[in-house]
Amino acid sequence: MTLLVTGGTGFLGATLVRRLLQAGDGPVRVLLRPGSDARLLDAACAGLSADRLARLERHPGTLDSVADAMAALQGVVLVHHLASAMRGSPADVFRGTLATSRHLLDAMLAMPEPPRVVLAGSFGVYGTAALPPGAQVDETTPLETSPARRDAYSHAKLEQERMFRDAQLRHGLGLVVLRPGVIHGPTRRAPSNRVGMGPKARLFFLLGGDNPLPLTHVENCAEAFRFAAAHGRFDGDAYDVVDEAPITCRDYLRRYRRVGGGFLVLPVPRPLLMLASSLNERLHRLSRGRLPLLFTRYRSLSTWKPQRYSGERLRALGFRPPLDPAQALADTFTALP
Ligand SMILES: NC(=O)c1ccc[n+]([C@@H]2O[C@H](COP(=O)([O-])OP(=O)(O)OC[C@H]3O[C@@H](n4cnc5c(N)ncnc54)[C@H](OP(=O)(O)O)[C@@H]3O)[C@@H](O)[C@H]2O)c1
Repeated sequence: MTLLVTGGTGFLGATLVRRLLQAGDGPVRVLLRPGSDARLLDAACAGLSADRLARLERHPGTLDSVADAMAALQGVVLVHHLASAMRGSPADVFRGTLATSRHLLDAMLAMPEPPRVVLAGSFGVYGTAALPPGAQVDETTPLETSPARRDAYSHAKLEQERMFRDAQLRHGLGLVVLRPGVIHGPTRRAPSNRVGMGPKARLFFLLGGDNPLPLTHVENCAEAFRFAAAHGRFDGDAYDVVDEAPITCRDYLRRYRRVGGGFLVLPVPRPLLMLASSLNERLHRLSRGRLPLLFTRYRSLSTWKPQRYSGERLRALGFRPPLDPAQALADTFTALP
């Protein structure tokens, strides 16, 4: 009953691997690419007993081809697919998220009994630009229809989810999609771009103001993956992963500043952000692309707007996160990274 965790060396993946092993699930296989940084995985698994640790398979390999993916899938009954390139050039993001997923899917569909998949999706797949301020964003929100007008990461995550949904519909692949909000924990406290940009040159541009932040602590999020593997319907059902009682972007930044050192915060009101976005678009056009396009009106309307989040569908299925919201924030901002 081997489980494969792609992205098992990453922030979320390392915690998921530890929780799976702790619970006695597995054996658990993790891909180690040439140059993978296994420090998070090593740290996460450091406290495990020898018999639990013996169930961790470190598999030297990649998802760079269907053959590589096939080798990683030998004997696997369930895949937690977390591998994704979250930063770098758009080409890197598309290659690291979509090409890898294509290889994995083709390898799975070539198996006589393809394993089930729990896919790490993203809130970036929702089409939020046209929603009125204050609207609730949840699993009933329509998916983005103009992904090319968003950032490369959101675009890639939407295409990745489509690819897996297509395999579920056409080939009956067992699929559950989990869409985490902003994952935080002691090793990743820095504010996400939903909060704003910085702190570079000791300056942070607060773009999210008093917007609610869809946080999920890394332990809660990892446990949601374990839970979905056991209780999901595997018919393409999708669940947002968000902790209850969200705090605002401003509040998150205040907590981060207490541990993250001294920098100046420059709050950017929404009307000013929209004006700057229009100006950025115009200057980008006039300079024939020499001025980088950091903000567009569409991206600003999608990302920096007050929205409400729920996580209720997963809780209705019976999911109970291990940390309550107060414990989760305390862990992120008081535990040593
Ligand atoms: N962090 C968040 O707030 C957040 C929110 C919503 C959704 N998610 C999703 O959750 C998942 C995990 O996120 P994370 O924050 O844990 O990411 P992360 O820390 O950046 O880890 C990314 C993982 O993907 C692997 N990976 C990257 N490119 C790869 C490639 N070409 N082939 C094989 N593996 C590759 C990395 O392996 P190496 O060590 O070999 O590079 C690493 O294990 C992602 O799918 C992400 O989209 C994250």
